Amino acid sequence: MTELIGLGEPAPLGASALPAGTYNGECVFVTGGGTGLGRAIATEFARLGASIVIASRKPEHLEQGESSMREVGANVLTVACDIREPDSIAAAFDAAVGAFGLPSVLVNNAAANFPVPAEDMSPNAWRTVVDITLNGTYFCAREFGRRHLAAGTPGSIINVGASYAWTGGPGFAHSAAAKAGVKNMVETLAVEWGPYGIQVNGLVPGLFPHDDMTADIQGNLARTNDKDVCQPALRVGRLRELGWAATFLASPYARFISGHTLVVDGANWQRRLLTNPPVITVRDQMGKGPFGE
Ligand code: HXC
Ligand code: NAP
Repeated sequence: MTELIGLGEPAPLGASALPAGTYNGECVFVTGGGTGLGRAIATEFARLGASIVIASRKPEHLEQGESSMREVGANVLTVACDIREPDSIAAAFDAAVGAFGLPSVLVNNAAANFPVPAEDMSPNAWRTVVDITLNGTYFCAREFGRRHLAAGTPGSIINVGASYAWTGGPGFAHSAAAKAGVKNMVETLAVEWGPYGIQVNGLVPGLFPHDDMTADIQGNLARTNDKDVCQPALRVGRLRELGWAATFLASPYARFISGHTLVVDGANWQRRLLTNPPVITVRDQMGKGPFGE
């Protein structure tokens, strides 16, 4: 019988396909860079010489991000910022410019999400997720783009997405709709701003579990049994794999790649079965009783 070996383990943490110093002298601005995937992405840029700015709301996340960047010897600035507020974003960019000069890379990583059946979602729950994930991403891109256009300097934007931008995401109607907007925005901005030297790409993680995941998301993963054996790769993503993809996309080796969304998920989003399994409602998957009770 053919052994099921899955997709192998990546190169070790600390390795990189890019030359050492690829980002020397550059500043990389990462929203939500104090936790999870944002912190992993920021770390890989830091290892390659970048000065890092981490922008998010919570002091404990900013402190965690700061200490991770210091561990790899990077210059780091943390800024309290709510990406729903354009003035807060402008102030964070002012602080970045003051510390390191205008960031040459923006990683729009911050997002909001929790599983909820669509019929149970309050208007404010919908608004909150769309406001952070879609509006916040645009507001940050706008601030970055306008500053580069005014200065006549090139730059690179990476919007972190999710594969349910293409497929829809049962239990995640708000986030899936917002991420569809984020992916679409990549394509528009890449065309509008390419002539000004600004590259815009999307980066879609598959399942990358980590300790910073919110209780809502961790609870969902535990409930849906989403583990290695449920992935075509027979494993989940390793955080550094996403960081490597991000550092490649914004590097001089990827300058002609723009308007593209790169999926790093071991083919999980294309997964289909030969025969359809029985449908299980989102309510049942979440262990919720009948609607309205
Ligand atoms: C239903 C919920 C809810 C839940 C919050 N709400 N959690 N509704 N189920 N589990 C509702 C609230 O009741 C409220 O509506 C509205 O959402 C806003 O809630 P607040 O707590 O006031 O919002 P805020 O303080 O701004 O916090 C935003 C948040 C929070 C999204 C609710 O979770 C957060 O800060 N998240 C940031 C980190 C995050 O979400 N990371 C996940 C990224 S992972 P009402 O009507 O009561 O006022 C990802 C992909 C993962 O995106 C894919 C994994 C497979
Ligand atoms: P996470 O650890 O919960 O990170 C979310 C980050 O966003 C936090 O650092 C949070 O910081 C920041 N944030 C949230 N709201 C903000 C706001 N209003 N203003 C500023 N910052 C805000 O989740 P993650 O798993 O690393 O996810 C990172 C990205 O990957 C997201 O775009 C997510 O959709 C995407 N993704 C993740 C997975 C996965 O398997 N992990 C899969 C698909 C897609 P504060 O709380 O300090 O503000």
